[in-house]
Amino acid sequence: MNGMERGMCGEDTINDFLIGLDDRIPRMSDRARGVYRLLGWPRFYEAFQQVLGARALRKRFVDDFLRPFSGARLLDVGCGPGSLLADLPSGVEYIGFDVNPRYIEEAQRRYRGRGRFFCASIEEGLPGLGQNTFDFVVARSLLHHLNDEEANQLLASARRHLRPGGTFVSSDPTFHDGQSVMARAVISFDRGRHVRSPEAYRSLAEGSFDSVEMRVIQGALRIPYSHCVMIAKSSA
Ligand SMILES: C[S@@+](CC[C@H](N)C(=O)[O-])C[C@H]1O[C@@H](n2cnc3c(N)ncnc32)[C@H](O)[C@@H]1O
Repeated sequence: MNGMERGMCGEDTINDFLIGLDDRIPRMSDRARGVYRLLGWPRFYEAFQQVLGARALRKRFVDDFLRPFSGARLLDVGCGPGSLLADLPSGVEYIGFDVNPRYIEEAQRRYRGRGRFFCASIEEGLPGLGQNTFDFVVARSLLHHLNDEEANQLLASARRHLRPGGTFVSSDPTFHDGQSVMARAVISFDRGRHVRSPEAYRSLAEGSFDSVEMRVIQGALRIPYSHCVMIAKSSA
């Protein structure tokens, strides 16, 4: 079993934060608990993301870090409801998988014809995907849900799926020097139990990749928050 409860996907860090409150504030009213649980449903969550400005962050992730090109093959691990597709150029061949069937159903409904979606876990993998065939492997808001062993498994598998020179790109909440008290407090409520420093994310990735670049992004949402984006490559 991975580091995140199956069937209760937080989808991304904001959702995780809010659902995390549900566990951490025992006297919260039933009505408030209900609202937080609703965020686990793709449509409600998407609307909420829009309010917080997370869509702009996703676009920035694609334009500034992923930089996909037409004709590229891209594997999205822990794809949620497939929202990344909304910001990819139409010529990208997209395959996404996620352990949560509710998200996969929503992705198939929304993006039928634009990508292929499968319900599977990192541990099972996708038989028949092929080694060394992807230009990009993406893991957005996933590593901080995985313990080191699970994260190493994901990174090693990403490396195997990538062509030589292909790129792994991730984004996760992070604790770092010089961070505001508010951002640290908000991130500490995240449901992911493995939020790491940029250095710790890097050291995980260096176990599977030859070069790893990091960027810490602060203030990209309408709440205090810091993200660590990692871009990793291997030459062979
Ligand atoms: C925080 S959500 C991020 C969703 C999406 N990547 C995004 O950025 O909107 C993390 C996703 O990883 C999926 N996940 C967690 N553990 C997984 C595993 N072991 N195998 C496959 N998917 C997993 C969850 O179901 C969830 O959809």
